[in-house]
Amino acid sequence: MSEEALSIEDATLLKAAHTARTEAYAPFSKFYVGAAVMTSTGELFSGCNVEISSYSLSCCAERVAVFKAVSAGHTELVSCAVVTDTTPPASPCGACRQVLSDFSSNLRLVLSNTGDDVKITNLEELLPYAFKPIEVLKKLNPGN
Ligand code: THU
Repeated sequence: MSEEALSIEDATLLKAAHTARTEAYAPFSKFYVGAAVMTSTGELFSGCNVEISSYSLSCCAERVAVFKAVSAGHTELVSCAVVTDTTPPASPCGACRQVLSDFSSNLRLVLSNTGDDVKITNLEELLPYAFKPIEVLKKLNPGN
């Protein structure tokens, strides 16, 4: 399925997403997701989905990974890996696409499953014409 060869960084990121998936807390959906992001300085942060009994309070694996990176001071992301057990591999939900977009210019995405299917794509393809933070910043600081 892979359309492009995996780089060493992709493989490392994917491994972190696989490991994160083992911690997925999804007692309600049983849909286990692992994600990992790589920062522009090469650090990795991973996350799993966390479900809450009041369902709307749950958080996707991608957002957990992004928030861990941002809370450690990293606001520039270059790639993200996501692992599910679906075929074909699942891609990030719309909400996560926007969150990822705020912290990247054109994020590389490595989507995989627990088998050996891997799809490489990018956020521009998944979220064209994205709403960008600069729109809000321009409005708040018209002179800049
Ligand atoms: N989920 C993610 O973690 N990432 C996505 O991009 C889509 C969905 C989680 C949320 C919920 O815990 C479960 O998968 C089923 O929707």
